[in-house]
Amino acid sequence: MPRDASTPAGARAVTAVAPAKINLHLGVGDLRADGYHDLLTVYRAVDLWERVTVSLDDDEVVVTGPGAPQVPTDRTNLAARAVDLLREEAGSDARIAIRIHKGVPVAGGMAGGSADAAAALVATDRLLGLGLGRAALEERAARLGSDVPFCIRGGTALGTGRGEKLATLLHARAEQHIVVALADGGLSTPTVFAELDRLRAERDPADPGRDPADPGRGLPRAGGVDPLVVALAGDDPAAVAGLLANDMEAAALSLMPALRRTLRVGREAGALHGMVSGSGPTCLFFCTDRDHAIAVAAEISEHGVAREVRVTRGPVGGAHIVDDPTGK
Ligand code: C5P
Repeated sequence: MPRDASTPAGARAVTAVAPAKINLHLGVGDLRADGYHDLLTVYRAVDLWERVTVSLDDDEVVVTGPGAPQVPTDRTNLAARAVDLLREEAGSDARIAIRIHKGVPVAGGMAGGSADAAAALVATDRLLGLGLGRAALEERAARLGSDVPFCIRGGTALGTGRGEKLATLLHARAEQHIVVALADGGLSTPTVFAELDRLRAERDPADPGRDPADPGRGLPRAGGVDPLVVALAGDDPAAVAGLLANDMEAAALSLMPALRRTLRVGREAGALHGMVSGSGPTCLFFCTDRDHAIAVAAEISEHGVAREVRVTRGPVGGAHIVDDPTGK
């Protein structure tokens, strides 16, 4: 097997994990000239993990775990793109096998693919002995996708730009217990953004040069994040729950109306708040504590409105190595 000169002896395989994200606040601005939307978001990493092992072996991508058959195994796979980016930058010709174990819903609005890329960046950096450091990895991450930098960083962070510009909210430590209800099928992120643009234009067809002070009349837009940021420093789950917002929800519900029933069942089961996660179709239900979350999860399961129901918590940390035979 060819061996790259920059590969430290013994670093034959490295495993890293990266968390799912949820958006406690997801404000979406208008479509930009580059095809993206400006975002104002509060990201939070939650305790569902993607696991990626990179090893000096034949180039291949193997995916296991729930939803694995829907994940591409060619070089369009986001983890493969992460490996290719670092390998090219290092001028390495090492052949690198990638094994991905899915712990985050596929196409669920929780950044499962982005977490794969984040874990692959962290693991490949170590495998090839690049020593890039977190800031440099986050910069590479932004080239791969808007949510990838956050999956490296973890915790709770304010996201701006297209979501890739991060400011960690250090004081936002209040723990949350969340029920995650997976839907049948997934939603593609660009499709949901396009549906949001369509709904906004439809609600305001006669006014293409809309008043910036009143954009998207009729379709509410999430406001500022200051009250949420303040609430996140406290320890009142109900206060936080009352301030959650997601502009993408209307578009996800338009594309998948059955989610309305899921949300209703979760709210009637006593969740403090129910909402679509990011671009959906996963639904999130915020609870007072773990026991409450388990009770709400049981009720949602019983009503058969979700393909699978899980209980999770946040915040958790970002991408990190869990197994490195070099012991570094
Ligand atoms: O950045 P990422 O590759 O994950 O984005 C996937 C797609 O989602 C983009 O091509 C774009 O259509 C849409 N998107 C957007 N505005 C953002 C982030 C993503 O319109 N801020």
